[in-house]
Amino acid sequence: MANTYKVRFVKAGRTVQVEEGRSVLKAAVGSGLDLEFLCTDGNCGTCKAKLLEGEISYRREPEILYDDEKADGIVLLCIASPKTDLVVEEL
Ligand code: FES
Repeated sequence: MANTYKVRFVKAGRTVQVEEGRSVLKAAVGSGLDLEFLCTDGNCGTCKAKLLEGEISYRREPEILYDDEKADGIVLLCIASPKTDLVVEEL
């Protein structure tokens, strides 16, 4: 069975359970969080958020993120899944 991690969204003040391997975005929206997204496939950047704590893995490399964004903790939630509990700031 896949591990399940807690993902806390600081602006919404909500914590969502997300299974390893599952999209953070899909899990959060499925739990009723009002997050912006369009493509859900790592192409548009609408789902950008800032990872404050924890580690994610991507189902494929996020080609649209600049190096300075990556260095600043910006992630694409639609193609990210948790490897640990996470703290995320919605942008
Ligand atoms: S929704 Fe388009 S990159 Fe995530």
